[in-house]
Amino acid sequence: MSDLSRTVAQEQLVSQDLHLSPTPVINLGHLSLDSVTRSGVVDQIAKACHDLGYFQVINHGISQPVMDCAVEAASDFFKLPSETKEEFASEDLRQPVRYDTSSKDSISMSRAFLKHYAHPLSDWVQYWPEKPPIYREYIGKYAVEVRRVALQLMQAILEGLGLGKEYLNGKFQEGSQLLSVNCYPKASQDAMAIGLAPHSDYGFLTILLTSCRGLEVLDRSSNSWKTAQRLPHALHVHVGDHMEVLSNGQIKTVVHRAVLNPEESRISIASIHGFEVHEKVACAKELVDEQNPQKYKESSFSDFLDYLTANMDNKHRNFLESLRM
Ligand code: OGA
Ligand code: NI
Repeated sequence: MSDLSRTVAQEQLVSQDLHLSPTPVINLGHLSLDSVTRSGVVDQIAKACHDLGYFQVINHGISQPVMDCAVEAASDFFKLPSETKEEFASEDLRQPVRYDTSSKDSISMSRAFLKHYAHPLSDWVQYWPEKPPIYREYIGKYAVEVRRVALQLMQAILEGLGLGKEYLNGKFQEGSQLLSVNCYPKASQDAMAIGLAPHSDYGFLTILLTSCRGLEVLDRSSNSWKTAQRLPHALHVHVGDHMEVLSNGQIKTVVHRAVLNPEESRISIASIHGFEVHEKVACAKELVDEQNPQKYKESSFSDFLDYLTANMDNKHRNFLESLRM
């Protein structure tokens, strides 16, 4: 290797890998600077949402130890004996905490997961696992911080849509937060290479913390899978079905999947942000006119759970399609 190649910047290496998407990286710290800087960042976020539906954020204010501890707590949970984890197993999607593995739901191909609500923390933390002993503290700390980032991002996106950052502020403040804590085995020759089948997330925004590479997003322009890059200290953000509904189709939900990592088992923590469970999300009336008629019916997270329950075995289920007018 020549001296020159050894000094090639990490970013250049990333963009040379054709399978990696050139994901926009947004410096969130700049959102709280002067109004000119802020509006520049709002424009970057708006463009990323419009063109791709995903981006990554740095300088988001969540410390590396908080992120590392959340991954450690999640990882320790999945190392517990099956009987302990199975205490949280349930087919009822409305349980406050739910553990499951590949076998039952139709999109987990090779994944174990624990899903639970996280906001308001004081309402939900009592249901979370008591083992490992660090779980509640470490996941709780991360959950509170990642929600702050989600609200900040939501305001910027609403501003970018021309709705103003205070738009439906009360409903976002009271909104729900669902954590999907996932564990994927290391890829092996006899196991399936896909950990989680293609899907979109129901909420407005998902913020994903992962221990190593494995997330893939469907690139709309080329209709091909792109590996999401993994930059130090960055969080991956993508928009969900309810963002497409609220924006009346100006921002499109992102289809994504998880592939198994050939080098190591993988932990990911997806934080999904929506309105309160029964609150309906409708197309913003400000974005509906003669040229842009309303494209989707209104729906709530509760409607989504009903839809999933009714379509449990249907691999091709698509909540957003069911809302199209
Ligand atoms: C999810 C999800 C992706 C990943 O939990 O909804 O898409 O990389 N996770 O684990
Ligand atoms: Ni997802």
